[in-house]
Amino acid sequence: MALKQDMDKSAAIICAEAAVPDPRTPAAQAYVLPPVRTHGGLLLIDALRLRHSTREYDSRSLPVRLLSELLWAAFGINRPATGERTAPFWRHVMVIDIYVAMADGVWIYAPERHELLSYLDTDIRATTGLQEFVGEAPVELIYVAHGDRMPDVLAEDRRLFASVDSAFIGQNVYLFCASEGLGTVFRGAFDQKKLAEALKLDDKQFVTFVQTVGRPKAWINPELYR
Ligand SMILES: Cc1cc2nc3c(=O)[nH]c(=O)nc-3n(C[C@H](O)[C@H](O)[C@H](O)COP(=O)(O)O)c2cc1C
Repeated sequence: MALKQDMDKSAAIICAEAAVPDPRTPAAQAYVLPPVRTHGGLLLIDALRLRHSTREYDSRSLPVRLLSELLWAAFGINRPATGERTAPFWRHVMVIDIYVAMADGVWIYAPERHELLSYLDTDIRATTGLQEFVGEAPVELIYVAHGDRMPDVLAEDRRLFASVDSAFIGQNVYLFCASEGLGTVFRGAFDQKKLAEALKLDDKQFVTFVQTVGRPKAWINPELYR
């Protein structure tokens, strides 16, 4: 998805100054994602039957609609009155932000207005892992934990709680991908230091896991799983 090209044509471009978590730029650009369907997809039981990890990807980008629904499924707001999310999270603190690495740069998912905030202009996908397919798939979801949002928690517990939060998000992504015929894999194999540098994280921020998303090279016939 060439989001920046789409953005040039889109009336949805706005400037957001306040909503950027840990902004590295004074006023980030924001891209409002298209609305999410309120029904559809596979039955949960079928999505569970189809859930699996994929390690061979087609490099084609995802349509914006799919990206929008993927992010909402991952950690979007499912109860607008209270701002609660599709995944449970530790002590009601938003410890995790999803950084979305694509060919046109890195974006931060901001669920409040269901938008992507421009963060970096560089393609860092290849830095998000150690396996061959990393960098080929169009989307890498990077789960970034903000230690400063857990001030009274020991360092080792920070990683534990942030990892559990990420795992719930990861399973949402697995089920959404199963429902949409997309491939995904939740990944712990990456170079922490290199990735933190590429993402310009500060010493209180850390990556818990990364999750690759894209079209699988080989389509899986749902009938095989029945
Ligand atoms: C904590 C965790 C870390 C993982 N790290 C990687 C990884 O770095 N690379 C990878 O290819 N798969 C990784 N996986 C995916 C597992 O290998 C995969 O889920 C497992 O082999 C079962 O296969 P399935 O997901 O197809 O059922 C990870 C899974 C978990 C839960």
